[in-house]
Amino acid sequence: MATQAEHQSTRRDFLFVATGAVGAVGVGAVVWPLINQMNPDKSTLALASIEFSLAGIEEGQSVTILWRGLPVFVRHRTPKEIEEAKAVPMSDLKDPEPDSARVKEGHEQWLIMIANCTHLGCIPVGESGDYDGWFCPCHGSQYDSAGRIRKGPAPKNLVLPPYKFISDTLVQIG
Ligand code: FES
Repeated sequence: MATQAEHQSTRRDFLFVATGAVGAVGVGAVVWPLINQMNPDKSTLALASIEFSLAGIEEGQSVTILWRGLPVFVRHRTPKEIEEAKAVPMSDLKDPEPDSARVKEGHEQWLIMIANCTHLGCIPVGESGDYDGWFCPCHGSQYDSAGRIRKGPAPKNLVLPPYKFISDTLVQIG
């Protein structure tokens, strides 16, 4: 049976690996549930910016990566999702924002958002709900294909982190 010191060492090593793997989206996506359970320490939260490659994320796929201890959704939207998001009248929105304000010009297929529900912080489930977006199982909030709140108690759209495209397939968050 491992001692407490061995457990802590393993935990530190694991977090280092997780935060050091920012270029590997797949790794970030896999480790998030484990990191969440382990309640990462402040050294994990201190990572100011990360870069990650979008290569390999197919249209219609999403991954979840970790930035400053926060899960971040990266979704490669389909043309249908983009059209739906653009067609929504601002009067239908609780927190009105056009689709163009939710993405970067020339990269409209990429939606990058902090993955915490703006109600009480749960992680919404993708490709769910009535709006081709996300459904939060905690209290039923629903977000559309631009991550805008459409139904339920959440007051705001999913939050966009600061990010920029370094190239068509490389993004820097933070
Ligand atoms: Fe998402 Fe309450 S935390 S609806």
